[in-house]
Amino acid sequence: MKISFVSPGLPGHGALALGVAEGVGLTGQAAEVDRLTQGTLSRAMANGRFKGAKGSTLEVLAPAGLAETRVVLVGLGKPDALDALAAQVAGAALVGRLLLGGEKAVTLVVEDVAGATLKAAEIAANAAYGGRLRSYRFDKYHTKKKPEELPSLETLAFAVAQADDAAKAFGSLEKIADGVFFTRDLVTEPANVIYPETLAAEARKLTALGVEVEVLGVPEMKKLGMGSLLGVGQGSDKEPRLIVMQYKGAPEDTGAPLAFIGKGVTFDSGGISIKPAGGMDEMKGDMGGAAAVLGLMKALAGRKAKVNVIGVVGAVENMVSGNAQRPGDVVTSMSGQTIEVLNTDAEGRLVLADALWYTQDRFKPRFMINLATLTGAIIVSLGHEHAGLFSNNDDLSEKITAAGKATGETVWRLPLGDAYDKQINSKIADMQNIGGDRVAGSITAAQFLQRFVNDVPWAHLDIAGTAWGLKDHPFAPTWASGWGVRLLDKLVALSYEGK
Ligand code: BES
Ligand code: MN
Ligand code: ZN
Repeated sequence: MKISFVSPGLPGHGALALGVAEGVGLTGQAAEVDRLTQGTLSRAMANGRFKGAKGSTLEVLAPAGLAETRVVLVGLGKPDALDALAAQVAGAALVGRLLLGGEKAVTLVVEDVAGATLKAAEIAANAAYGGRLRSYRFDKYHTKKKPEELPSLETLAFAVAQADDAAKAFGSLEKIADGVFFTRDLVTEPANVIYPETLAAEARKLTALGVEVEVLGVPEMKKLGMGSLLGVGQGSDKEPRLIVMQYKGAPEDTGAPLAFIGKGVTFDSGGISIKPAGGMDEMKGDMGGAAAVLGLMKALAGRKAKVNVIGVVGAVENMVSGNAQRPGDVVTSMSGQTIEVLNTDAEGRLVLADALWYTQDRFKPRFMINLATLTGAIIVSLGHEHAGLFSNNDDLSEKITAAGKATGETVWRLPLGDAYDKQINSKIADMQNIGGDRVAGSITAAQFLQRFVNDVPWAHLDIAGTAWGLKDHPFAPTWASGWGVRLLDKLVALSYEGK
């Protein structure tokens, strides 16, 4: 779908879309179009429930008096609540309405809204961004779809007074969308396509954007003593990899870099503690944290963010075989701490243990944020509406929470504490990889991670409920959401780029 910004006015072809603020009625161009169509729009509104609520639409086909094929009214919500996110929701709703409907082109006329702080150019740029996010498809393995089952919409234009400003603002937002799409693609690809080596190959593609990429293989990781990560991967024919990415967007800044670490379990069968068959296919997405880190690196490098960022991914496949790790095995992590593996399905924390230790040891970062589809228990707690946030630092937590509100990728903080920590003490090793009973499973998992974090500000995002399977989401039309890219891009922009 091509996106463009043009001068104000009616397009004269394709669909005409008009923004309508809630409780304001038809103003500006919308009032003019209503006049041209002899009151068709106001009659349509009077006879239905469309009032301009955020994300709502009303479509009038073949209106007399207009050259365009149809008019779509797009709700912008209340003027005082018209922020970037609301504009994104409106653009997404427009695309959602027309994507498969047979229409090829739509032009949204955007004007300043009385009482809104966001100006027309920013409304247009953000509506374009939401529209782009909503246009995502993953059709590459369908060979038999009929043309009418595929998107019809080819062009999305915005008619706005400061078209150049809008295009410029969209330029950066488009790069974030590229990152989100990269993450969605990686999560959606099956595990026979994306495994540690091919995930590393995908990361290497980021070198085209100026990201430095190193990939550690099994011999290097053995040398570093990463027995925890390697134990998870030993049952698979696909060898583990540690992917290390560095983006230096602020070369003159000699301070510590920001670090993002992702769980990259490219398939989680559970190992010998095998998972039930139903829904096991979804465990191809157990590298959702890693995919978000890759997508974030792509977004930041793509929009040339002025920050220095490290991305580290522990990529392994958790499989069953004669060489697979057994329940009860004891492994030694890079930190030197020993772990009794009581359940081979609690593997993500074992991977992150070594990835976190490596990151803080080598890079001494300003903070570490890890993302992981870590526990089914976080879905029980928070559903698909928030990711779980665990942190040793209030300031970092507040920044992440604020970025969540600004992007709609919201987080909810859960506690850490000694009473939980002691539940992972082991009888024969320094710790065990599951709590003594099933209660507070997301928290005991976070406690485990914290044992591999020293003084550095750290946050763990448990994204098992948000990486995929969101229902009726404004921007995420397919199974994989790409969750985390927009949140962490915003965190970086708000707190570390001086924006
Ligand atoms: N990858 C899973 C967690 C998960 C579950 C992600 C559902 C997405 C949807 C993780 O490796 C896992 O298996 N966790 C276990 C931990 C348990 C054995 C302590 C779980 O949540 O059941
Ligand atoms: Mn597991
Ligand atoms: Zn897992």
